[in-house]
Formats: sequence, structure tokens, C-alpha cells
Amino acid sequence: MPEADGSGAVARHTVYEPMADHQLLIATTSAGKLREWRHLLADTPYRLLDLREAGIDFDVEETGDTFAANARLKAEAYGRASGLLTLAEDSGLCVDALGGRPGVHSARWEGDDYAHKNALLISLLAGVQDRARACRYVCSVILREPDGRLWETRGEVRGQVALAPAGSSGFGYDPIFYVPRLEATLAEVPDRAKDRVSHRGRAAQRVRAALMARLEAGAPVLGSA
Ligand code: IMP
Repeated sequence: MPEADGSGAVARHTVYEPMADHQLLIATTSAGKLREWRHLLADTPYRLLDLREAGIDFDVEETGDTFAANARLKAEAYGRASGLLTLAEDSGLCVDALGGRPGVHSARWEGDDYAHKNALLISLLAGVQDRARACRYVCSVILREPDGRLWETRGEVRGQVALAPAGSSGFGYDPIFYVPRLEATLAEVPDRAKDRVSHRGRAAQRVRAALMARLEAGAPVLGSA
């Protein structure tokens, strides 16, 4: 069990072993997201399962108009099917000069070849300078308790659409997501650096705190339906 330091915070030196009875389904079909959630939650005592390990092989149609609505659809479908504590997220890239596109349609927008998608975004911003190239990544997360209760959070990171793709780490739109204070795209920095600043990394800080609070309370305490 976690050691508390008396203030309600978890002592920094605590080393956690994954516990079989604290399972968390990372309900995503995206290999890139799964990889990131695995390292973002590696320092919790939860045993992280993916959809395959939970015996699930269906997709959920993302019919919602918002990131939160789509995250909820996935949390409900995968949570019900697995009976497990379930984390689902919906995320995407919103480009200011394009009225927030591709937004909730980021995964499907213009197919699934990211070299093409990224080149197209750059060409759509031809002649647009510096700050007018502003964009953000949004990540909406829902945790669903096995009893159906829901808890939600969100993380964002602001950046600019790069003038040219750069870097090969990360996934998706990362080679064109330029973060001025890093002077690099998210595909040019190591995983840990992306985790520190990214939409998913920011949401994960709050997810981690909620997961720990839940364990310390010894019962599901996350939100309500
Ligand atoms: P969805 O949440 O399944 O709708 O997919 C989110 C889509 O947004 C991904 O397929 C990517 O296109 C994009 N996306 C979200 N987060 C990231 C990220 O961290 N890096 C790169 N692309 C991302």
C-alpha cells in the first residue's frame, strides 16, 4: 500500500509493485497512446492492461461532437465490456487558423497517412506567420469505475504548426507540433520531455493523483455518472 507522509501526499521514495487486484484498462486502439500511457502511469501500483489483454477486439464509433463526449463513449463501451476500472481518452490537434480543425476528427481527417496529413496542414498554412500558426493538442480523459461512476479531466498544450516536419519520435502530428519554449517539435524531443509538457502528460498528472486517492480511500471514490 502507498505510504503517506502525514499530509495526505504520497511519499516520494515509495516504490510500488503492480498489484493484480488493482487493474486498470488502458482502453485505446492507438499504439502511440498506449505506449505513452504505459510510461505516464508506470509509477503507480496499478497493473495496466490493454484491450487485447482484456479480451476486447471491437472499435467504438466516435460520434460525439466534443473530445469529452467521445472519451465518454469509449469509457462506457470498454468499461462495460471488460468490467474493469477503465481509462479512455479522446484527443486531437486544433489549429487556430483553420477554425480548430482537424479537432475531434484528427484521427480520421484526410486518411491515416501522417506524412500526407502533416504536409497538407503545412500547405494549408502557407503564408501564415509565427503566432498566427498557433495550435493546441487537447486530451480529454474519462476514468470509469466498474460500478459505472465516471471521473474526468483534460490536458492541453499550446504550440505552433511547424514550417516543415521534423523528428521521428512520438506519433501522429508530433513532427509538425512545434513548441517554442523547447525550440523543437514533439517528435524531436525524448519521450520524457514530451510527457512533461504534453496534453496527455498534463492530464496524466491529475489521473495519477485520482488513482492514488482512490487506493488510499480503499474504495471507488471517483466522481459520479
Ligand atoms: P482519437 O482520440 O482516437 O480520436 O485520436 C486522436 C488523434 O489525434 C490521433 O489519431 C492523432 O491523430 C491525434 N493525436 C492525439 N494526441 C496526439 C499526440 O500526442 N501526438 C500526435 N498526434 C496526436
